[in-house]
Amino acid sequence: MNDINRITHVNNVSLREDGKAVVIIDQSLLPNKTEFIELDTPEKMYEAILHLRVRGAPAIGICAGYCMAVLAKKEAEPKPIRGCCSSGSADEVFLENMKKHGEYLKSSRPTAVNLAWAVGRILTAVRVEIKKAKLDSGIMANVGYDRLAEVVRMEAVAIHNEDIEMCKAISEFGLSLVKDGDGILTHCNAGPLATSRYGTALGPILLGKERGMEFKVFADETRPLLQGARLTAYELQMAGVDVTLICDNMASMVMRNGWVQACFVGCDRVAANGDTANKIGTSGVAILAKHYGIPFYVLGPTSTIDMDCPTGKDIPIELRDPAEIKQKFYEMPMSLDDVKCYNPAFDVTDNELITAIVTEKGVCRPPFTESLRAVTEK
Ligand code: MRU
Repeated sequence: MNDINRITHVNNVSLREDGKAVVIIDQSLLPNKTEFIELDTPEKMYEAILHLRVRGAPAIGICAGYCMAVLAKKEAEPKPIRGCCSSGSADEVFLENMKKHGEYLKSSRPTAVNLAWAVGRILTAVRVEIKKAKLDSGIMANVGYDRLAEVVRMEAVAIHNEDIEMCKAISEFGLSLVKDGDGILTHCNAGPLATSRYGTALGPILLGKERGMEFKVFADETRPLLQGARLTAYELQMAGVDVTLICDNMASMVMRNGWVQACFVGCDRVAANGDTANKIGTSGVAILAKHYGIPFYVLGPTSTIDMDCPTGKDIPIELRDPAEIKQKFYEMPMSLDDVKCYNPAFDVTDNELITAIVTEKGVCRPPFTESLRAVTEK
């Protein structure tokens, strides 16, 4: 396996062969340790998403799909008394229990829409199967827990496989926007670890490298959780890409020096008007890019576009533990214990600052209200 394949084919999220656990790389330990952990209870799944052991909008979606598959299998295990207190059919009890699992998982992180999207897809697949059985064999027919658990597993695998295809397509479209030798600035991590295969914002860079192109990438370290330093710089360096790590407040300097020809960032939720939530600090990069006349591209799958969210004001923003700012990654606390802290995990970039939104179905340009509608209806 060559260096790029080692990075693009990393198995960051998978379903254990017996279907009873989700296996993830614990991203919170990278780049110092590559450790795989198994998630086999709702509590472990919730904790892994909350603490960013699995992170990046598409990867969270894939993980949520597999979590639902594991929990569906658990539901299908023989129990002494099943559905004794419910007046519904066995299938409906299954659906209700899966809804509860989905609500619990969704409450771990609110901003990335892929989590809710994946849970919604799984539940829809279950509903469709139940409805089909009723139509085929009469009103009282039950699909049965084993079959419904298999339906959930198949839908989760489909979400994963589609993500692989999606990353490749986004990478192709993104690559058409830059030329060999360009300087590219990126914020946070939207590479293979955050998705599957190539990633979104890092996809064109890795695909270009595979084809012999050389980009000069500037990776913002991305305070406070350092996804840029720990993950982006790691992935690109391992893939043999020319990457330079900078602190977030150095972006203006490298742009002013003329070293950046394009900004590529990922996204956690794109509103119908193109306003985009991504890692905290992204909007600052977009403002700088506008100032220096550098194109600012958002790269993400259509599953990250939320047409039910009219503008960025409607996107819920996750607030996180102040300890991440005050002491995490430091040998000693870097502020007084009782100092007030504000720690939003994401910000919203206004659509006027975005040159284009690159999806697997094409490149959307302003006016985004029209171009995003067109790709989501394709
Ligand atoms: O808090 P994180 O690390 O999950 O935030 C991740 C990002 O902001 C990414 O840019 C985004 O999810 C896109 S990943 C393809």
